[in-house]
Amino acid sequence: MCGIVGYVGPRDSQSILLSGLARLEYRGYDSAGIAVIDGEGDLEMRKRAGKLSVLRDDLAAHPMPDGTTGIGHTRWATHGGPTDGNAHPHLADDDRLALIHNGIIENFAEIKAELLAEGFTFRSETDTEVAAVLLGREYRATGDLLAAFRAVVARLEGAFTLLAMHQDHPGLVVGARRNSPLVIGLGEGENFLGSDVAAFVEHTRKALAIGQDQIVAITPAGVQVTDFDGAPVEVEPFEVMWDAAAADKGGWPSFMAKEVSEEPEAVANTLRGRIHDGVVSIPELDGLDDLFRGIDRIIVIACGTAAYAGMVGKYALEQWTRLPVDVELAHEFRYRDPVIGPSTLVVSISQSGETMDTLMAVKFAREAGAKTLSICNTQGATIPRESDAIVYTHAGPEVAVASTKAFVAQITALYLLALHVGRLRGAVSASAVEELARELEAVPSKITWILENDRARIEEFAAWMADTRSVLFLGRHVGYPIALEGALKLKEITYIHAEGFAAGELKHGPIALIEPGQPVFVIVPSPRASALLHAKVVSNIQEIRARGARVIAVAEEGDAAVLPFADEVLRIPLAGPLFEPLLAVVPLHIFAMGLAGAKGLDVDQPRNLAKSVTVE
Ligand code: G6P
Repeated sequence: MCGIVGYVGPRDSQSILLSGLARLEYRGYDSAGIAVIDGEGDLEMRKRAGKLSVLRDDLAAHPMPDGTTGIGHTRWATHGGPTDGNAHPHLADDDRLALIHNGIIENFAEIKAELLAEGFTFRSETDTEVAAVLLGREYRATGDLLAAFRAVVARLEGAFTLLAMHQDHPGLVVGARRNSPLVIGLGEGENFLGSDVAAFVEHTRKALAIGQDQIVAITPAGVQVTDFDGAPVEVEPFEVMWDAAAADKGGWPSFMAKEVSEEPEAVANTLRGRIHDGVVSIPELDGLDDLFRGIDRIIVIACGTAAYAGMVGKYALEQWTRLPVDVELAHEFRYRDPVIGPSTLVVSISQSGETMDTLMAVKFAREAGAKTLSICNTQGATIPRESDAIVYTHAGPEVAVASTKAFVAQITALYLLALHVGRLRGAVSASAVEELARELEAVPSKITWILENDRARIEEFAAWMADTRSVLFLGRHVGYPIALEGALKLKEITYIHAEGFAAGELKHGPIALIEPGQPVFVIVPSPRASALLHAKVVSNIQEIRARGARVIAVAEEGDAAVLPFADEVLRIPLAGPLFEPLLAVVPLHIFAMGLAGAKGLDVDQPRNLAKSVTVE
């Protein structure tokens, strides 16, 4: 899940590479490096363990000659620890060529043994250096960088994006991808490569998505894309919808703070153009009516926060389409023998569109004959390209590792999909859709209400809880996945032990964890929506209160029944039962962020994590 950037053009490349890496740092941040071919035609390289700022400071203190051809990398370690030596780029051919890599080369040990036997030496523990040394050997044999590069990728197994350049060829960067992301940015007299469009969006919004098993060569004058055998292939241009400012902090102390504040817009933008006078229409799904009429089952696959969005979506999909819906973690789905076929619709959810576990599950579903639909936030990403249908969430770039605004956008997209498919199949009436669409359209202003009225109080409360060692989250029905998401967010960014449970499951085991003072968040369903469900959750609250728990209730405004039993109440505006998750999650996101802030932790780049997990 490393970040990759490449540049050729008239400008000095160091600052272009460093600012591209800054936008990709969410992909990995344990070391970083750049290489350029300088004005004298020599290859210069600098790499440092630690965050990108360490490399920047080093370059500022000890400047390196600049040049107009360059590659840059920010790493999330797989093979070999996060050291200067294991950082990319890796050099070969007497330090005349540089190579960077994202992914895992599965057969590196075999190739390394072969190269060692031939007398080549290695300076790192990485799988990547094997590709660099192999490229050096092939280049020596032919003098043709592209041919040598083709020979290298033909040997490699696993997942990889590779970029390479050689000082004999200033103005040329070659790249290849297999199961790992790479996009091209098209400039005027300059061209770019990046793991995603964020790498170059400040320079150009014209982009090309490269397909699987393709090789690209960029020069200032143009771009050439071929398959791994060198045969030219057609590539689809697209216009990047994000603007560069969207990938900046915009005055907020962290990307996560900014992204939580953008949750209303993430919902509104995902709805935009898809509801007209109470009728849901998703232009991307035009022409696919037969596909949706022909299915008899839906399986939702995703990982992490996206999987919790899928769990929320299940309630709406089942209710509005009357199709059976299963939700499964992509990595679990992939490695069993699920019963799927042409009448199964497999819906994948992924903010990045690159999560390897999800991608592999989508490919597996396709091979088994299922129909595939991708809910994705990133244009040009791999998962939508591998799917029969796409519904984009329009949350804008999400940079903080822990997902927030993408979560509410994913639920919104799932609801739109459920209404679209339900209407098409006659499972939901036009008047019901009209009413539900109106509810959806009211969500952004309700989230704004929470952010404007309660944010400061929740942050203060979180700071007061900074020494807590464990937090539990309970929910029922759609509140259950929200409890799981609340716990995940806390684990991810505060490193506090947190667990989410279905409230009904409490008495079957987890209640043993309750001891005096144990903080428990309870997502309380609306009493108006279901008096029964509400009463059951209030009983659960009493059960834990009786054992000394400190109860923090997330409850609808005006729900007086929880007051006698809650130590703290976080209010959410009134909403229909299926719309509550879009509101109830917001205080939990603010709470996790507030607590991480109070502990002085980096909320954007939590330890050990990466945003786009491109390894299985
Ligand atoms: C990682 C991130 C999570 C994210 C998950 C799925 O684990 O840390 O925040 O929810 O990947 O990412 P995706 O891009 O597929 O939504």
